[in-house]
Amino acid sequence: MKTTHSHHQKEMKPINRKALRAMRGKDFLNTTHYSREQLEALHALAFQLKHAHLYGSGTPPLLEGKTLAMVFEKPSTRTRVSFEAGMFGLGGHALYLDAQKTQMSRSEDWQDTARTLSGYTDAIMARVYEQRTLETLAKYSPKPVINGLSNSLHPCQILSDLFTIREHFGKLEGVHVMYSGVVDNVAYSLALGCAQLGVDFTLATPRMFHTNQAIWKQAQTIAKKSGSLMQHFDSMPPAKVLKSVHVAYTDEWESMHMKLDKAKLFPTLSKYQVNEKLLAQCAKGAMAMHCLPAIKGEEVNSSVMYSKHSLVWPQAQNRMYVQQALLVALLGDLDSKSSE
Ligand code: CP
Ligand code: NVA
Repeated sequence: MKTTHSHHQKEMKPINRKALRAMRGKDFLNTTHYSREQLEALHALAFQLKHAHLYGSGTPPLLEGKTLAMVFEKPSTRTRVSFEAGMFGLGGHALYLDAQKTQMSRSEDWQDTARTLSGYTDAIMARVYEQRTLETLAKYSPKPVINGLSNSLHPCQILSDLFTIREHFGKLEGVHVMYSGVVDNVAYSLALGCAQLGVDFTLATPRMFHTNQAIWKQAQTIAKKSGSLMQHFDSMPPAKVLKSVHVAYTDEWESMHMKLDKAKLFPTLSKYQVNEKLLAQCAKGAMAMHCLPAIKGEEVNSSVMYSKHSLVWPQAQNRMYVQQALLVALLGDLDSKSSE
């Protein structure tokens, strides 16, 4: 079979159903609201769903009759399609709602939107500007609310990316991830996720961009417990640090909610580009990652994205399987017959 997948991981630990059952009916606004055991159980379920879909008996209809409302204040390709195709695959249904095409454009508020949508659907996924919008949705929706990206965090992305890293390297313990470029929602969620799952994390970003000290402190506190190494450099790290890096991760310099003078910043930021030259200074077998969309020639170069040192495409595809696992945990019945 023609496939773009990494197959270093051959099998997964049995699914910790008890850990997943405790997620039922809850929101997913941040990975830190869940334990390491629960995140690992989601990975185990995602592994099973992926293998059933690609090589087994097909995706079980674990969400038959369930509907997900998806509200977007910002554009999306991956998040929208992976959630929609993921719901469909599980026997459910997803609705795309451009916030500007709803009554919110005429100033209906999030509270009333949450009360209304949760009356029709089984969960709400939202991509918003402010994290507190998600908190408002969660407060007024009795059904689970999922963070599909905010200005501060992108937890679905990172839950999935850690799955991709585990899949490729066969483990998370001992893996060292470096994020270089402009630090933002993806990078801060990555710091938190790495800290939770015991992955070493290096942040290489000019100090002027390292603004969310609260999240960084939280990641450091979590890392003390898990044993992850957390470090920040306001330049590219020295050779001896790079030598231990297994994953070089980056994201667009200018997020959807930002405005940067990229022409002026180019000489500074281009030093943080993820490319083959950087991978050559990292550990043997080091891989490039990017959440996408990418601006080729800025934070990443095009050749590394399509090289054998790229995890970018399995990374994008795995979003669907990991979010399916999340949806099953939050909305599904893990004790039903079709989940066996
Ligand atoms: N990575 C990601 O969330 O992509 P989209 O903006 O296309 O959803
Ligand atoms: N940091 C980017 C991620 C896009 C998926 C943004 O917020 O635009």
